[in-house]
Amino acid sequence: MPSSKSLQVKLADDHATGANAADATAFCVFTDEPRLSVAAPLDEAARRTVEDLLRAGEFKGEWDDTLVIHTADAATPNSARRVLLVGLGSHEDFTRDTLRRAAGGAVRRAREARVKHLRFMLPDVAGGDAPELACAAAEGAHLGCYENDFYQQREAGEESTLEHFTIATASAAPDDALRDSLERARVVAGAANWARSLADEPGASLPPREFARRAAEMAAEFGLAVETLDAGEIRKRGMGGLWGVGQGSDEPPALIVLRYEPEGASDEDELWAFVGKGITFDTGGISIKPALGMEEMKSDMAGGAAALGALRACAELKLKRRIVAVVPTAENMPSGRALKPGDVVRTLAGYTIEVVDTDAEGRLVLVDGIAYARSLGATRIVDLATLTGSIIVALGDHRTGLFSNDDEWASRVETAAARAGEPAWRMPMSDDYKKKIESPIADFKNYGGRPDATAAALLLSKFAADTPWVHLDIAATSWHEEAQPHAPAGATGTGVRTLVELVRG
Ligand code: BES
Ligand code: MN
Ligand code: ZN
Repeated sequence: MPSSKSLQVKLADDHATGANAADATAFCVFTDEPRLSVAAPLDEAARRTVEDLLRAGEFKGEWDDTLVIHTADAATPNSARRVLLVGLGSHEDFTRDTLRRAAGGAVRRAREARVKHLRFMLPDVAGGDAPELACAAAEGAHLGCYENDFYQQREAGEESTLEHFTIATASAAPDDALRDSLERARVVAGAANWARSLADEPGASLPPREFARRAAEMAAEFGLAVETLDAGEIRKRGMGGLWGVGQGSDEPPALIVLRYEPEGASDEDELWAFVGKGITFDTGGISIKPALGMEEMKSDMAGGAAALGALRACAELKLKRRIVAVVPTAENMPSGRALKPGDVVRTLAGYTIEVVDTDAEGRLVLVDGIAYARSLGATRIVDLATLTGSIIVALGDHRTGLFSNDDEWASRVETAAARAGEPAWRMPMSDDYKKKIESPIADFKNYGGRPDATAAALLLSKFAADTPWVHLDIAATSWHEEAQPHAPAGATGTGVRTLVELVRG
């Protein structure tokens, strides 16, 4: 069993009395304001200890820094017993994402210190909207609890102790707006953590049919309609890209389709499609990958998991938008039946593609996913895919690559991504690059040399045709190579929050 325990996140209701059951209190510290800025529920001695420490520069408030201080003996029965200082960096650089990360870091640090109930003092920032700040802190706390040690044995007594996280605001008393934002945080982070748990699952325990089963199980729980096409259907309907990528594996491919129809929706309403790459393991196929780092390719379905997770959150929040998630899923393996370089596949849209490199498999499955979404009547599309190593080189881990055929749709997705704290950077995509996808033998080819993220996007755009479409290349942002103060090494769940923000509008 995963050791990530769910956390009760509430608003402190002791606004007036100051009494509470927490055994530690977290305070945010800014680098340009090294003191306790919010009215602190600390006794005189404790307050002096903390302020002396801050004045002496022993804790500078740098981003991602935390420090636990014992301010009273263990017999002191309140939240002043231990203080957890959390660095936020400078006021100038402060965003909701800073707070989200800080709350995640605080939760992980508190767990290490065997804290049971952490009280988190929301920083008082000028122009800060209390419900939005509370939402970010709550999201960070839920996300910070995530663990991917599914296969690790735990000694008795080693489990996480942290059960409660209460958010105390300096100014605002708990009201409905604050309570709503905490509920939204719980739902969105729950969906993101669900997506992470799939992306962290090894390839052997999450082949395409198991991925489809987990999607169907979630759909049943959250009232979504499911229709999964099996390998026979995929072949019969002419999805040669998805079929081709799956043909080298003993595990058959699948097309997972989940639908969310809000109450009162009609067929006239727009239908948005979230298409996610669902390669449950990418060996590269016959164009096999080098061994070093190949284990990370168990998360080559992170885009698919994010698309499904977003639907889960939209349904739970009862957002007013018809949405379909389409996840073409396959295992990319070399074998006697595998695609060979030079083979030509015929896709659902009718176009043929020459497979120059079997490791450029993501675009082969996505073009069928995009064409299928259009055949269902999608009026707008966002695809998410761990598509290219080249986007990692171009943008590093802090920006998702964004490509689009429609400026207005692109800017809506870009804004949603920024608000979600999952920033995306628009990349060029135009026929200037078309040489890289032109084949002498077929309508297109799947690889034309480096750089490749733009060529991959250009190929996808031919299948999106005139439907407003955004492609998010999350190859870098879906995975932390190293543990972070707010997250373990592994899947990040990126995309879920962006899509939910997009739907909320
Ligand atoms: N799944 C990979 C892209 C990837 C690489 C994701 C590293 C996350 C981390 C994709 O299928 C792939 O293999 N892309 C190749 C394509 C190339 C061989 C044409 C790439 O970008 O190197
Ligand atoms: Mn590949
Ligand atoms: Zn891949």
